[in-house]
Amino acid sequence: MVLVLDFGSQYNQLITRRIREFGVYSELHSHRLTAEEIKEMNPKGIILSGGPHSVYDENSFRCDERIFDLGIPILGICYGMQLMTLHFGGTVRKAKDREYGKAEINLVNESGLFTGTPQSQSVWMSHGDKVIEPPAGFAIDATSKSTPIAAMSNIECNLYGVQFHPEVRNTEYGNQLLKQFVFDICDSTGDWTMDNFIDQEIEKIRSKVGNKKVLCALSGGVDSSVVAALIHKAIGDQLTCIFVDHGLLRKDEGDMVMETFQEGFNMNIIRVNAQERFLSKLKGVSDPEQKRKIIGNEFIYVFDDEADKLKDIDFLAQGTLYTDIVESGTETAQTINSHHNVGGLPENMQFELLEPLSALFKDEVRVLGTELGLTEAVVWRQPFPGPGLGIRVLGEITQEKIEIVRESDAILREEIKNAGLERDIWQYFTVLPDIRSVGVMGDARTYDYTIGIRAVTSIDGMTSDWARIPWEVLERISTRLVNEVDQINRVVYDITSKPPATIEWE
Ligand code: XMP
Repeated sequence: MVLVLDFGSQYNQLITRRIREFGVYSELHSHRLTAEEIKEMNPKGIILSGGPHSVYDENSFRCDERIFDLGIPILGICYGMQLMTLHFGGTVRKAKDREYGKAEINLVNESGLFTGTPQSQSVWMSHGDKVIEPPAGFAIDATSKSTPIAAMSNIECNLYGVQFHPEVRNTEYGNQLLKQFVFDICDSTGDWTMDNFIDQEIEKIRSKVGNKKVLCALSGGVDSSVVAALIHKAIGDQLTCIFVDHGLLRKDEGDMVMETFQEGFNMNIIRVNAQERFLSKLKGVSDPEQKRKIIGNEFIYVFDDEADKLKDIDFLAQGTLYTDIVESGTETAQTINSHHNVGGLPENMQFELLEPLSALFKDEVRVLGTELGLTEAVVWRQPFPGPGLGIRVLGEITQEKIEIVRESDAILREEIKNAGLERDIWQYFTVLPDIRSVGVMGDARTYDYTIGIRAVTSIDGMTSDWARIPWEVLERISTRLVNEVDQINRVVYDITSKPPATIEWE
């Protein structure tokens, strides 16, 4: 394992990510870990990440300085290099301006981290302070015009520092450099695979759960599906899943969940058909936030009611991912979002949490799901909001309007699939604004609903751009929507990015 200590850089998760891509397990942890805790984890190497502070700031992040005496190879990146410099008695200068962007470095020493790479190479810089005098025992390995000490090392002590960011793709030989550190310097073996992960996690789940029982809220989404499949593989019938059908799912989705897990995996799964319960609570409500709240709360009540009927449950399984934990706020990162799975489960539940995906990134969860035998449709399911179609019927929800959205969404998805665009578009769905307009069908005047198509590209849903779906695909979708869905006589395509719009319309 290679340990990455987090000093708050926006790139800190990327370091872990890159190393895992090499087949070496890596974890990102708080810089507050003590030397004893680190020793206990027994890492092959330690990477000190970059960070937004100056080492001279009053409250700048520090690490337990005894880690430098553990005899474990250390690579300091940017702020990490500056910390190392201060610790060993070198000099860091506080800069007035940040250096940000591409830079050329020239190697002074072509061995160590830079073995096998060209004398001159492009790197990505993002720093304010810089090292102006290396500590005693350290040699300068690379220089750039504005950063004379762009890299340094004390090879005897296995200590390395780079001012630039090797984890960022714009650093031409960044991967080679990290590989050199991880394999050559830390002597890692590169045998971390998803198969190993499954075996290890199954062992962990079995020893934690023993002969007790586990409950899982299955939504049909990727994370909860993979968690259920993994735990089921570990403990079989000791797992029970509750699947709440709130009536706001996409076409055939409820049946698909049952087919996958009950028939395919032979899992204990309770489907709660709570459609009417949700619909009656939503009657007369048109405010988006109010609708969200009602759906979220009702979910908890329904889940609670069902969980109460089950006896002797000790554990609650959740599909929490690594990013959820990191985004929910290590002390270094600002809280980006407070994470709640499946709309937030009851706080008063007396269960112990089981979160076997908490070390994985989303794409790793997809690989895991495939290895566990989940279908492509489940593993590559596009993000779907907890309140479901409820926030795609704008204003008050009625059964009739849900059906219009559900049918139109099914047609859109079918055509996107037929056009082979499924993986290119982050999310694609239809919305029903409360608009009626005049049209003509056959010889008759119509006065029917307008349906909106929303399709966006995105990396993480935080920002997005509208997808450039080819005209002919849009044309097919439009024709089918007006012909096949009752009460639609007009189709519009949303061409707004986020910001200023959001992905959903409510
Ligand atoms: P917005 O509309 O805020 O959406 O741009 C960003 C991403 O979040 C999803 N989304 C939700 N997910 N509960 C959820 O679980 C919600 O209330 C909710 N609202 C939006 C949205 O589908 C998109 O992927």
